[in-house]
Amino acid sequence: MKRILVTGGLGFIGSHTVVALQNKGFEVVIIDNLSNSKIDVLEKITEITGIKPLFHKIDLRDKAEVRSFFDTNKVAGVIHFAAFKAVGESIQKPLAYYENNIGSLVYLLQEMKNRNIDHFIFSSSCTVYGQADALPINENAPIKKAASTYGNTKQIGEEIIAESCKAYHMNAIALRYFNPIGAHESIKIGELPLGIPQNLIPFITQTAAGLRTELAVFGADYDTPDGTAIRDYIHVVDLANAHIAALERLLNKKNKTNFEFFNVGTGVGSSVLEVITAFEKAAGKPLNYKIVDRREGDITAAYADTTTANKELNWKTEKSLEEALADAWKWQQQQ
Ligand code: NAD
Ligand code: UD1
Repeated sequence: MKRILVTGGLGFIGSHTVVALQNKGFEVVIIDNLSNSKIDVLEKITEITGIKPLFHKIDLRDKAEVRSFFDTNKVAGVIHFAAFKAVGESIQKPLAYYENNIGSLVYLLQEMKNRNIDHFIFSSSCTVYGQADALPINENAPIKKAASTYGNTKQIGEEIIAESCKAYHMNAIALRYFNPIGAHESIKIGELPLGIPQNLIPFITQTAAGLRTELAVFGADYDTPDGTAIRDYIHVVDLANAHIAALERLLNKKNKTNFEFFNVGTGVGSSVLEVITAFEKAAGKPLNYKIVDRREGDITAAYADTTTANKELNWKTEKSLEEALADAWKWQQQQ
């Protein structure tokens, strides 16, 4: 059985990936500092899979702790989710974001290099493309200057990995996620936004639950069919499965270059109004919303060309937007 280190494994995407890994027969060891997650998630993962993953409460910014973890744990690969992810906050606190998102990455790669540990998977983001010139966005689209510190940490992160792979003959895959949403079908794990949600789906579900009075739709004057902005919303379980596919590609030496990157989305773009309509159908109730000005920094449209990921990873999405919204709603209702 292969043991895989999952950093940030108690977070939103990490927890779903740990479930998928354990269901596939991998042994999982999680590192998380609980800065944006709760220890209860460990029990929930255990309830879903019947297996309790190994867990170390470690802050990856602590180089000595990272080293001592690798002194005592042998792993066949690393899936690195741990990072700060709030776009607005990153502009207010750039050094905290560089320290966490870049510092942790460097420490991990150093330990892997020093111990000849191969196989690294990195959580990147479609934010690296900015507003792409052509839609759907394929992996050849140019990387645009990042609009936020958060976005920059993903661009720099990819560069650090690419250069490390070249210099140290390591093998890595960056997955550029589009918009992950939803929750596990068991409704035992899901997204836990702190404070007022910045992202669309948690704001919708909290509004429907009566925790917020109304959703503000940020702009209806975009150059799109209904005027609202378009994104590619992917069910988090489909996204988790892309990590298994990427890991198996590396373990089976099927990768074509030392460092590869793939778009992970559904390939379907949905406008904010389309999401609202789909949510109303899934929840069986109307949603209170009003149209307001655009949010600063938002782009018009982004959705993935998934041809390369589908072919190379032998992976595809299986869940619809409606299923993802229904799961997000069930998750909200049991909070
Ligand atoms: P999350 O905040 O739910 O999970 C991240 C986990 O990492 C948390 O459990 C947190 O406690 C942990 N963590 C953070 N810093 C740490 C540190 N220094 N040491 C140890 N643990 C630490 O976030 P998520 O939504 O699951 O995102 C996972 C990854 O995917 C992140 O790298 C994020 O930037 C990236 N990503 C997320 C989205 C999204 O919309 N959720 C989109 C694109 C990319
Ligand atoms: C945001 C991040 C991006 C990150 C992604 C996934 C920004 C600028 N970008 O993308 O880096 O990878 O989350 O976590 O923050 N909307 C509303 N009302 C709301 C909230 C959102 O109308 O209350 C609209 C937005 O204008 C956007 C769409 O819904 O058109 C999706 O927004 P959101 O969920 O925040 O994700 P992104 O902006 O795509």
